[in-house]
Amino acid sequence: MPGALLQRRKRNLLRRIRAISIGLSNWYIEELEEFLPQVNITPALVQNEIHPYYQEPDVVPYIQKLGITVQGWYPFGGRGHTLELLGNETISAIAESHGVTSAQVILRWNLQRGVVVVPGSSNPDHIRENLELFDFELTDEEMAQIVALNRDEKHDWY
Ligand SMILES: NC(=O)c1ccc[n+]([C@@H]2O[C@H](COP(=O)([O-])OP(=O)(O)OC[C@H]3O[C@@H](n4cnc5c(N)ncnc54)[C@H](OP(=O)(O)O)[C@@H]3O)[C@@H](O)[C@H]2O)c1
Repeated sequence: MPGALLQRRKRNLLRRIRAISIGLSNWYIEELEEFLPQVNITPALVQNEIHPYYQEPDVVPYIQKLGITVQGWYPFGGRGHTLELLGNETISAIAESHGVTSAQVILRWNLQRGVVVVPGSSNPDHIRENLELFDFELTDEEMAQIVALNRDEKHDWY
């Protein structure tokens, strides 16, 4: 391809790239510190593994302070871990006191710390339940009880 045409296509591509927002997945402080000075668009969102056993207590506020939305994947710990997490005694007790489910408590805990969630489900009842998060609120003490469950226990690497 002639050089001038190639340059024009590159410029067009860059113009189009400037018009969209950036979403990142599995990015942590070190990677962001290296990447952000190289781009002139602040990414809109970073999606990382986040659940009560893997809370990212440093990474989440670091990203949020940059004005970037944090989204948590594996909110229930991911398949193979969900029964243990949903059956956690502390989470179950909080759920019982609000008349909601453990899944709802975990999702609400994320939302109250400003973390957007992407729970996976193929069950219509669960999907409905996972959306019903806005008529109860966790107290500061309940939030702290869930914070205390952190084990820095990552369940997957991508
Ligand atoms: N960016 C990345 O690198 C990355 C990596 C992994 C995953 N992800 C994304 O993260 C999202 C979630 O991942 P995931 O689905 O594997 O893990 P997850 O959301 O932690 O767990 C899903 C499991 O929880 C169950 N569940 C959902 N709602 C429930 C409820 N209300 N009560 C009881 N059980 C419930 C589901 O079963 P039912 O189907 O029976 O409801 C399913 O077995 C997906 O969109 C996935 O693509 C992203």
